Amino acid sequence: MATITLNRLARKNSLTAAMYGAMADALTAAQDDASVRVVVLQGHETVFSSGNDIGDFLNQPPAGQDAPVFRFLRGIASFPKPLLAAVCGPAVGIGTTMLLHCDLVYAGDNAAFSMPFVNLGLCPEAASSLLVPQMLGYHRAAEALLLGEPFMAEAALEVGLVNRVVPPMETNGYAQAQARKLAAKPLSALVETKRLMKKGQQQLVLQQMADEGASFGRMLQEPAAKEAFTAFMEKRRPDFSGV
Ligand code: COA
Repeated sequence: MATITLNRLARKNSLTAAMYGAMADALTAAQDDASVRVVVLQGHETVFSSGNDIGDFLNQPPAGQDAPVFRFLRGIASFPKPLLAAVCGPAVGIGTTMLLHCDLVYAGDNAAFSMPFVNLGLCPEAASSLLVPQMLGYHRAAEALLLGEPFMAEAALEVGLVNRVVPPMETNGYAQAQARKLAAKPLSALVETKRLMKKGQQQLVLQQMADEGASFGRMLQEPAAKEAFTAFMEKRRPDFSGV
């Protein structure tokens, strides 16, 4: 078993290019290592991730499909072995969308999921524009992706984004215990079952990610996103009246 722990608490586990690169490398290593049968992705009991580091968006936006963030997203979307997540507290942006690619998701009852891409002048990523409507139905997806409002663990459980809600202090331990159950099963059967469940739309997911990535990269440079990021850094409300 391998565990990837998001650990940048002072910045609410926001993710930098270096962190995406490290996570992408960890997934590749886990895929190649025959002794790793299951991977768990976890945060802290108070926060899973506040999404992409907004300063990074301003200073070093992802340049092209080989940028670490896109490498990480393709890595989780194509990861052949079981991938579990334990989520407590805020899971913003990619903190929520990466869960769409995990096989089992366990949430603390304090988990708050949100995909506020529009509020940042951006569009969805991680194939969430395809997978969220499939999972939530179009109108609830529109609520999540156009309004960008957070929804809590119980609502996520109801729509099937998470498998089970547990107390925050127990969430990582519960995911680890479920991972140990999987690790005791035959890896070849797990991998083949996952491949068969996913194969119907694997290419579609990767294509959607590439399309979203191209738009996302362009929109990062446009006035709406610049205003949203600058407002965040200056701790004020963004003014979108001119964009
Ligand atoms: N990028 C960069 N810095 C971030 C960050 C992010 N995504 N999320 C939080 N931080 C920083 C804050 O600026 C703050 O820095 P400071 O101590 O220098 O003031 C510190 O982390 C603590 O965050 P704070 O907002 O005070 O914590 P909170 O518990 O009140 O709220 C969140 C937590 C996650 C709800 C809130 O930080 C948030 O909404 N963050 C932005 C989320 C976002 O829009 N992400 C991009 C998605 S694409």
